[in-house]
Amino acid sequence: MSHDLDELKRELLNEIAKSGTLEELEAVRVRALGRKGLISERLKGLGRLAADQRREAGAALNRLKQEVADAIAGRRAELERAELARRLESERLDVTLPARPVPRGRIHPISQVLDELVEIFADLGFSVAEGPHIEDDFHNFTALNIPEHHPARQMHDTFYLEPDPETGERRLLRTHTSPVQIRTMMAQKPPIRIIAPGRTFRSDSDATHTPMFHQVEGLVIDRDIHMGHLKGCLEAWLSAFFEVDALEMRFRPSYFPFTEPSAEVDIRCRREGGRLVIGEGDDWLEVLGSGMVHPKVLEHCGLDPAEWQGFAFGAGLDRLAMLKYGMTDLRPFFEADLAWLEHYGFDPLDVPTLAGGLGS
Ligand code: DAH
Repeated sequence: MSHDLDELKRELLNEIAKSGTLEELEAVRVRALGRKGLISERLKGLGRLAADQRREAGAALNRLKQEVADAIAGRRAELERAELARRLESERLDVTLPARPVPRGRIHPISQVLDELVEIFADLGFSVAEGPHIEDDFHNFTALNIPEHHPARQMHDTFYLEPDPETGERRLLRTHTSPVQIRTMMAQKPPIRIIAPGRTFRSDSDATHTPMFHQVEGLVIDRDIHMGHLKGCLEAWLSAFFEVDALEMRFRPSYFPFTEPSAEVDIRCRREGGRLVIGEGDDWLEVLGSGMVHPKVLEHCGLDPAEWQGFAFGAGLDRLAMLKYGMTDLRPFFEADLAWLEHYGFDPLDVPTLAGGLGS
C-alpha cells in the first residue's frame, strides 16, 4: 500500500475513533465513503492508471474502504450503546416512590352504599343475584302478580321499547329489581337467600326522582318462613347500615301485588333544622317496602306455596345513600361533577367492612 493510503487510513481511523456523537461519525463517513468522498474519488481515479497498476491499487483501495467501513460500524455500535446507557440513566423511574402526591379518584356514594350492603348481607348468608335491565312483561309484571290492566302498571311510568315486528311483544326497561326475584326462583331451588341490587328505570324526574335510579331487592325462600324472620332480617340490616345499635323500626300495613301481607317499613328519626338524625327522636322515616311473597308469585315460578314460603323487600339504593350521607338532591348523583364527587365520594382504600366500620 502506498504511503499516501497509509496516511489516509491513519487519519480516517483517528477521526472515527475521536467522533463523540453519531452526527460526527456520519460526517466522517460522508467525507470518506460518500459519493464524493476521499476513498470514492480515488476509486474513480483508477481508470486513469495502466492496467497492471490499476489491479494493485484497486485491491489496496478496496481493502481500505472495507477497513474504514468496519471501523465506522464498530464505532457506531459503541456510540449507540453509550446513548442507550445515558437515556436509561436520565429517564430512570423509581417505582418504589410513594404514590401519595398523585391525585386519586373517589368512590361514588352509590358504589359505597352497594359495597356496604353486600358486606352486611354476606354476613347474614345472602348472595348477590343479577338480572337484565331490558326485561319482558312476564318477569317485570305478570309473574309478580301484576296482570294486564292492573293499576300498578300505570303507576310504574314504564319505558317501553319498540314492539317486536314479528311477535308484537314490547320489551321494557325494568321498573324495579323485583323481576330478579322471579328469575332467581325459576333458576334455582330453595332455600334461597339473595339480594339483587341494580339499575331501574321510570319516566320520572325531580329533586328526588331520576329516570334511571337504583334499587336493592331482597328475597328469602325456605320452609316455615314468617314475618318474624322478615323483621329480624330488616332490623339486623338497618342497624348495621345506619350504624345505630338496635335501630327501632315499625311495620305499616301497605299493599304490593307481589306480597301478602305487605308492609312499609319506617325507622325512628329526628329532624333538627335541616339535619336528619337516624335512630332517635319521635319522627318516622319510610325506608322500604316488604312483605311475605304472594302464593301466586311462588306458583308462577313453579314453587308449591304449601311447601315453600318467603319474604321479600325492596328499597331505593340512592335514597339510602342520601339518608345516610346527607344529600338532599338526587340529580347530582348522575351528573359526574368532579367537585361533587370530591365532596361526597369515598376514599378507594377505605373498603367498608363490618369489623372496620362501614362508612367513613
Ligand atoms: N318493587 C317495589 C317498588 O319498586 C318495591 C318492593 C316492595 C319490593 C315490596 C319488594 C317488596 O320485594 O316486597 O316499588
